[in-house]
Amino acid sequence: MTVNDTQTTTSVPRLAARRLSKLYGHVAALDDVSIDFRPGLNGIIGDNGAGKSTLLKILSGVELPDEGAVFVDGRPTLLVSTRAARAAGIESLYQDLALVDTMSIADNIFLGRERIRRVLGVPIVDRRRMRNEADAALREVRIRMPSARVGVRQLSGGQRQAVAITRAMLFGARVVLLDEPTAALGPRETAAALRIVRDMADRGETVVMVGHNLPQMLELADALIVMRAGRVVASVDPAHTTLRDLTDFMVGSNA
Ligand SMILES: Nc1ncnc2c1ncn2[C@@H]1O[C@H](COP(=O)(O)OP(=O)(O)O)[C@@H](O)[C@H]1O
Ligand SMILES: [Mg+2]
Repeated sequence: MTVNDTQTTTSVPRLAARRLSKLYGHVAALDDVSIDFRPGLNGIIGDNGAGKSTLLKILSGVELPDEGAVFVDGRPTLLVSTRAARAAGIESLYQDLALVDTMSIADNIFLGRERIRRVLGVPIVDRRRMRNEADAALREVRIRMPSARVGVRQLSGGQRQAVAITRAMLFGARVVLLDEPTAALGPRETAAALRIVRDMADRGETVVMVGHNLPQMLELADALIVMRAGRVVASVDPAHTTLRDLTDFMVGSNA
């Protein structure tokens, strides 16, 4: 029996990592990592090189683990690509956000999932419907945004973040993975992006966010995981944890 087996709760976690390991050469980027992710904001912290990004890459289908498995709603699920992860309801947002600069907000949101209508039996892209749906979804995230027909090239970092998050929401992602989503943002944009993330968690989405700002993570997260040297060294309730506890876990002084 592993440590995690003792943390039994009644519900099946939306997403679960089981005994994940990943080697890069001689470096154990992940070493026997098991975590349950439930609805709400799941924070992950840890020093540089702790394995946070490697974990998110495996959960988003960018990398395959050497050992272990990912479970979605209790079912073992092979995430061989980001497409496979999406099909399983897992969306990931990276710092570069993968938006196409030359396209409009609406076209970015619907990229690869365009709305189609038929004219005399001929399928054509329904741009008006895409714009309307995009505008409605963007209103919901409550961030100041030009019309969805505007090119994303004109957007600020925070607005780009909002577009990427809106895309995830609109397609019913049940799990959203964010790796340091505010790293490239200014203070005001950071506040706006974090509000969107918190709203998403409040709506019952399962959000997994890697962050480096410990006070912020302590305040925002519903559950916090601390990683060190490829392992999960603590899984804590932020309401009953201090900054000092977190830094101790990160450097291992309470080991
Ligand atoms: N593609 C890669 N090739 C070689 N080593 C890697 C690669 N990706 C990550 N690593 C190594 O794996 C360890 C964990 O990295 P990473 O998951 O990026 O940590 P974190 O996101 O917590 O800073 C680090 O030692 C890093 O150098
Ligand atoms: Mg990283």
